[in-house]
Amino acid sequence: MVVQIQSQAIESKNWEMGFLAQIYRSRWWRYLQKRKPGLLLVLIFAVFLIYFNFIDPNRRKSDVEYDNHQLVQSELVRLRSQIGFLKAKLAAEGRGITDLNDLAQPMIYAITPTYARPVQKAELIRLCHTFLLVPNFHWIVVEDAAEPTDLVTNLLKRCGVVYTQLKALTPPEMKLKPRDPNWRYPRGVWQRNEALTWIRNNVPVSREGVVYFADDDNTYSLELFQDLRSTKAVSVFPVALVGGVLLEKPEVSPDGRVIGFNALWEPQRPYPIDMAGFAVNLQLILAKSEAKFSLEVKRGYLESEFIGHLISGREELEAKADLCTKVLVWHTRAEAIKTTGENIRKRKGLPMTNVGFEI
Ligand code: UGA
Ligand code: MN
Repeated sequence: MVVQIQSQAIESKNWEMGFLAQIYRSRWWRYLQKRKPGLLLVLIFAVFLIYFNFIDPNRRKSDVEYDNHQLVQSELVRLRSQIGFLKAKLAAEGRGITDLNDLAQPMIYAITPTYARPVQKAELIRLCHTFLLVPNFHWIVVEDAAEPTDLVTNLLKRCGVVYTQLKALTPPEMKLKPRDPNWRYPRGVWQRNEALTWIRNNVPVSREGVVYFADDDNTYSLELFQDLRSTKAVSVFPVALVGGVLLEKPEVSPDGRVIGFNALWEPQRPYPIDMAGFAVNLQLILAKSEAKFSLEVKRGYLESEFIGHLISGREELEAKADLCTKVLVWHTRAEAIKTTGENIRKRKGLPMTNVGFEI
C-alpha cells in the first residue's frame, strides 16, 4: 500500500517535471522573462500557491479528512475555552456568575470539601479552571471552617462556575493535627454530608443529574465529566495514583459487567474504590435520604459504607471510562509545604513574607 502510494507520487512528479520543462522552453516564457519579468514572478507565485493548496498529489484524501477532523476538534476546543474565558470574565467584572446551565443534559453536582492551608487557593484555582470548561456543572464547595472565609468567597465569586458555598466545621477532636498520620480520622465527612443535605433540600426532584465527590486536590480530565453524566445509579471508573499503587480499577467482563476490583489495600471491602472513583445518579441520592458518610466505619470503609446505602450489590455498578480502560482522574496530593524559612525570618525580626498578600 505504502509502496503503491510512493510510486504513484513518483510517476506524477515525473509528469510534472516534463510539463515544467516544456513551459520553460516555450516562447511565452522567454517573452515574459525579457519583457515582463515582474508579471512572470507574480505568475510563478500564483502557480505555486494553487499547486500546494489544491493539487499537490501527496495530499491524499485521508489527509484531507484528517485535517477536517482536526479542524472540527480544534474549533470545539477553541469554543469551549472561549466560553470558559467569557464565564470567568463576566464573573470578574462583578456581574455575578452567569448561569449558562440548561436542562438539555443532566447536571453534574460536584461536591468539594476544602480546608485552609498554604496550598488551598492554588488547588481551588486549578479546579475552577477545569470546571469552567465543563457544561452544565454546579460546584458545591464546603469549607471546613466555622464561617465562610474571604479567600474562598472571593475566589468563587470571580471563578465563573455556577456554585453553592457552604460550611461545616470538623469537630476539633476529629481533626487531624499536622503531625498525625492521615489515616487517623476520615476527612471531608461533615462537609460532604452538609452538601448532600443541601442537595436534598434544594434540588427539584424533577431535575436530571449526577453527584460526584471531587476532592480539592485531585486532577480531573474533562472527559470524566462527559462520561459521568449518563450515570443511571452508581458508576465506577479507574483512579490513578491511589491506595499505594499506580492504578486502582474495577475489573470488567467482556460484556461490560463489573466483576471485581484490583485494589491491593483492604480488597475485602464491598466496594474497594476511592472517593474519586464513583458517581451517583441524583435521583438515587434524593430517594435514599439515609445515605450519608459515617464516622463509625472502619478505616477505609467510608466509600463502601456509603455506596452500600445506594445499591444492593456489585452487579448494579456501571463501568465508565470506556469500560474502565481509561484513566480520567488522578488522586494527586500536594506535598506538605515547609515554611521553616518564615521562622528564621521571625527570629531575625523580619515580618512574614505573605504580609499584604493572599496566597
Ligand atoms: C483519601 C480519599 O481520596 C478521600 O476522599 C477520603 O476522604 C480520605 O482518603 C479519607 O479516608 O478520609 P486523601 O487524599 O488522603 O484522600 O484526603 P484529603 O485529600 O486530605 O482529604 C479529602 C478532602 O477533604 C479534600 O477535599 C480536603 O480538602 C478535605 N479536608 C481534608 C477537609 O475538609 N478538612 C480536613 O481537615 C482535611
Ligand atoms: Mn486527596
